[in-house]
This record gives sequence, C-alpha cells and structure tokens, in this order.
Amino acid sequence: MMLAERMSRLGTESAFEVLARAGRLAQQGRSIINLGIGQPDFPTPENIVAAAQKALADGHHGYTPANGILPLREAVAEDILKWRGVEVDPERIVIVPGGKVTMYFAITMFGEPGTEIMYPDPGFPIYRSVIEFSGATAVPIPLHEDKGFAFSAEEVLAKITPRTRLIIVNSPANPTGGVVPREELDRLVAGLAEHPEVMVMSDEIYARMVYDNVPHASMLVYPELEGRLILLDGWSKTYAMTGWRLGYAVWPQDLAEHATRLAINIHSCVNAPTQWAGIEALKGPQDAAFRMVAAFDERRKVILELLNGLPGVRCVRPGGAFYAFPNIAGTGYSARQLQDDLLAEAGVALVAGTSFGEQGEGYIRFSYANSIANIEEATRRIARFLEGSGKSRPS
Ligand SMILES: Cc1ncc(COP(=O)(O)O)c(C=O)c1O
Repeated sequence: MMLAERMSRLGTESAFEVLARAGRLAQQGRSIINLGIGQPDFPTPENIVAAAQKALADGHHGYTPANGILPLREAVAEDILKWRGVEVDPERIVIVPGGKVTMYFAITMFGEPGTEIMYPDPGFPIYRSVIEFSGATAVPIPLHEDKGFAFSAEEVLAKITPRTRLIIVNSPANPTGGVVPREELDRLVAGLAEHPEVMVMSDEIYARMVYDNVPHASMLVYPELEGRLILLDGWSKTYAMTGWRLGYAVWPQDLAEHATRLAINIHSCVNAPTQWAGIEALKGPQDAAFRMVAAFDERRKVILELLNGLPGVRCVRPGGAFYAFPNIAGTGYSARQLQDDLLAEAGVALVAGTSFGEQGEGYIRFSYANSIANIEEATRRIARFLEGSGKSRPS
C-alpha cells in the first residue's frame, strides 16, 4: 500500500482523544468530570428538533441544491443583517456540514506548496492541520495572554510575505476564550490595504457568545474587505447542534461557485431535514439560545475565580466562547503532563494548551460547558492534586 505523502501531514484534534480516554475511564467505573469537550452541554432546543421531524414527515428526503436550500440561505442572510448589520446576497452563502467544512474549503482553495497561510497560535488545531495537508506553509500568529489572547495587528502585518495567500482570524476564540478588540481589527484591515492579494477567513462560530456587554466585532462589516473575506459561522455552538452538522459561509461572489463545486465533489449537500431545522433555529424563538449564553456567562465568572485561587495558576478573564485558558507555568508541570495526570489521578478531563499550537505550552484549556456543581468539584479535585503533588509553587 502506498499512502499519499500528504496523509503524513494531516494533524488531528486532541480533544477527541482526551474524550475517548475519559470515556474509557468512566466505563471502568471512575468518576470523571469532563471539562475537555468543546460543545454546549444543553440539548438542541425543542422547536428545532420538531422542525427536523416535520421536515422528515413532509417528505424532505432527497438531495438539495449543493449550496443549500434557498429558504435557508435567505434565513441566513436575514440573520446576518440582524446581527451584523450587513446585507449579503443569498447566492454568496454556501451551507455545509459544520463550520469545519468551510475551513477545509478555504484553506485547500488557497493553500498549495510555495504559499503561506497564517493561523492563530494557540488556536483551533484543524487550521494548522489542513494548512499543512494543503502543502502550504503554516505561519503562526502569536496570541498574547497580556492582550487577553488577542493578536497584535502590527505583528500580523509584519509577517505577510509575497507568498501569503490567506490569514485566519478567530474571535471569540477556541481555546482561549479571547476576543480581538474592534480597534485591533481596524488596524489589521487598514494595513491589509497594502496587500490586496491576501484573503481573510474570519471564523466567527462563537459570535453569539461575547460577554461583558461587548458587541461582537464581525469582520464582515468592513467594506474594504469586499471580495477578500470568507466568513465562517454555523449552528453548532449557538443552538447546541454540534451533532447535526450544519454550518455556513459567506464567500466573495466569485468564490461561492468554487465552494459549491467542492461541495458537489465531497458531500453533495447537507441532509435535508437538518437544513429545515436550521431555518427554525434562525427564525424561531431565540430564548433557549439566550438562556444558554446567560448560563455560560455565569459559569465563566465562577470558573475564573476558582482558577485564580489554584496554586501556581493564573487566568485572564475570557471575553467569549465557553473556554478558559489559564497559565499553569507556576505549577511546575508541562501542559501535557498536567493534562494526563489530572485525568489519571484527579478524574478531570482537560486539554493541554500544546494541543492548540506551540504557544500553548504553559496553558491548559478548560471548557466550562458543564454545570457549576461539576466545575466546583473539578477545581476542588485539582486543588487537592496540586497541593498534594509537591510540584506546585504558589504564584
Ligand atoms: C473555532 C472553531 N471553529 C470551528 C469549529 C467547528 O465547528 P463545527 O462543529 O460546526 O464543525 C469549532 C469547533 O470546536 C471551533 O472551535
């Protein structure tokens, strides 16, 4: 068997591995608290489930257009106008099976050997994985703890070379919960005027989860980026629909056709009942989605205080998503060792910062998509572990 060379360049998402290990331990009867998983711990709202059931009963069983049914693309356009204040032609919208698919499309559309694509580090691991798979060189954009895990626009602009094809931005971010301030985005966009050939993919999958009364800063609002911006969003996080596989992108006019062609070659279309459920999610009552965000906000405050009380740990206030990314350098552990020991010895599943890039050493990701009782118990277990291990040093 002669596997194609590029298969050796494909990475993975370690959160799934931690999840599998945590599952095995739980099956053996161990008490495991899972703060490793990147999905809401709420069920999909009932009205959305009912819309999918109705679509099945109504006979929506066949293929749909590869770019998605028109009523769904129109509902997305309406939603974008409502939340981002920008009018987009539904013909620029391509419905895909999850946010990840847009990522894969955008990166493989622009990445090839001899080119460079910039990605946030620490960041969602699939960016780097697919960049390398495409043959492009992955160029990290460092995120800074002292800037609330935002990037510096000057630093990003300074890394652009004649080979740069695409810059990936993610705010609010996984794994840090960081939010890039509007002014930093303004500076990036202003600087990009000198690099008209560079495209931007803005991953805004956590757009509805921004706290402290800060409005979400979407990159879609910049007219300067017209023809250069790919907006990634979807239903997974906002409506607790990770298992449904539903996402969308707004593409520049000329690229929507290429994205649709990729869809035709890969998955044909998103399953029909899920698309009808997606319409109900956007146009139906929003109270369940709001309640979920309010619950995350409450947990965020609880976890932030508890983390900052742990020996050797300090955590900046996450502005969005449902992750906290504390600095654990003061514990004396490497990120990976702490991840492994906390799972094996304290029964708490977390993901090492190094799973999200080289800059993630010294950090560990907590997902607070879990109950306050579990968050409290997990941090008690971690405190006992750190206090007993002899390796921790108070910061
Ligand atoms: C930053 C970011 N983008 C995209 C995704 C992918 O979302 P989906 O499950 O819709 O593919 C995730 C999922 O964890 C994410 O954290």
